Amino acid sequence: MQRNSSKDRILITGGAGFIGGHLARALAAHGAEVTVLDDLRVPPMIPPEGTGKFLEKPVLELEERDLSDVRLVYHLASHKSVPRSFKQPLDYLDNVDSGRHLLALCTGVGVPKVVVGSTCEVYGEADVVPTPETSPLSPRSPYAASKVGLEMVARAHQRASGVPEVGVVRFFNVYGPGERPDALVPRLCANLLTRNELPVEGDGEQRRDFTYITDVVDKLIALADRTLAPVVNFGSGQSFSVNDVVRILQKNSPDAKVTPKQSRPNEIMEFRANTALQTWQIGPGPDSVDIEKGIRLTLAWWESRDLDDIRQRIFQEEGAD
Ligand SMILES: NC(=O)c1ccc[n+]([C@@H]2O[C@H](COP(=O)([O-])OP(=O)(O)OC[C@H]3O[C@@H](n4cnc5c(N)ncnc54)[C@H](O)[C@@H]3O)[C@@H](O)[C@H]2O)c1
Repeated sequence: MQRNSSKDRILITGGAGFIGGHLARALAAHGAEVTVLDDLRVPPMIPPEGTGKFLEKPVLELEERDLSDVRLVYHLASHKSVPRSFKQPLDYLDNVDSGRHLLALCTGVGVPKVVVGSTCEVYGEADVVPTPETSPLSPRSPYAASKVGLEMVARAHQRASGVPEVGVVRFFNVYGPGERPDALVPRLCANLLTRNELPVEGDGEQRRDFTYITDVVDKLIALADRTLAPVVNFGSGQSFSVNDVVRILQKNSPDAKVTPKQSRPNEIMEFRANTALQTWQIGPGPDSVDIEKGIRLTLAWWESRDLDDIRQRIFQEEGAD
C-alpha cells in the first residue's frame, strides 16, 4: 500500500461493525495508521480493540480536526436492516445525512479519497441478472432508499470539484465471523447451535450473491491504490439460494429442523452481481473462500462462542425485528 508522509491515516466509519471491524484489523496488521469511528449504536460482536485510535461518536459529530491527517476514508457506518427500516423509516434518514456531513467535511479539509459503502438493495428486483452498475435504481425498502440517497450525495460530489475522489461500492451479501444474527448466514448458524433449528423465510428459493468477509476486505484494501470507479459492484458473480445454504449447514447437523417463517415484505428473489467492472478495477483474482468453506468457517466461529451470549443476541434481534 502506497504511503504519503503528511496524510497517512485511514478513517473507517462504522469500524466497530462487521465489515469495518475486519477491515480495521487487516489494515492495522498491514501497518496502516487507522482511526475507527463508531458510536456503538449496535453492540459489536467483536470488541473494537487493537486497531489504533477509536472515536466513539456518530458520524454527524465528526469534526475537521478528526480528518486533518486522513488520506482515505472508508464510510461504512449505516443503519442496515431491511425489515427494521419498514418499522422505523425515519431512522434511516441518518444514512443520507451522515454521508452529506462526512463528504462536506472531507471536501473542506481536502481528504484525497473516500470509499462509500452502499448495497445491491438499491437495484430492487433488477430486470437484468447478473446486474451491472448501469441498471436502474429501484429501491424496495426504506433502507435501500436511504442508500440511493447516500449515493446521490456521493454523485453530487463526484460531479463537483473532484476532491475528494469518491467511489461508491455496492456490496452484495458479505458473510463471515462477527456478523450479527439479523443477517441470513449468522441467523442460521445461531439458531442451529441454540435450538437445532434452521429458520427459512418463504420457500427458501430466494438467491443471494455471497462473498466471504476476507475476500471483501482484500478488495477494499486493493481500492486504496486504485483510481475509484464512480460505482462498482462487490460480489462474486454467483448466486446460491437460502435452501443451498441450509443444505451446507445440514451436512454438519443432519437432524436440524427446518422451520418455515413468513416471507418478508418486498422480498427480492435474486441478487447477483455483474462483476466485469470489479474485475477490471481490482483484477481477476478469484475469491479464495468458496461458499462451503466460508459457511464452515462461519459456523466454527459461532461454535467457539458462549451459548448464553448467542441466545441473548438472537433474543435482541428478534425483539428488534
Ligand atoms: N454485511 C453485508 O452483507 C452488507 C451488504 C450490503 C451493504 N452493506 C453495507 O456495508 C456497510 C457495513 O455493513 P456491516 O455489515 O459491517 O454493518 P454493521 O451493522 O455490522 O456495522 C455498521 C456499524 O456502523 C455503526 N453506525 C451506524 N450508524 C452510525 C453513525 N451514524 N455514526 C457512527 N456509527 C454508526 C454501528 O454502530 C455499527 O457498528 C454498511 O454501509 C452496509 O449498508 C453490508
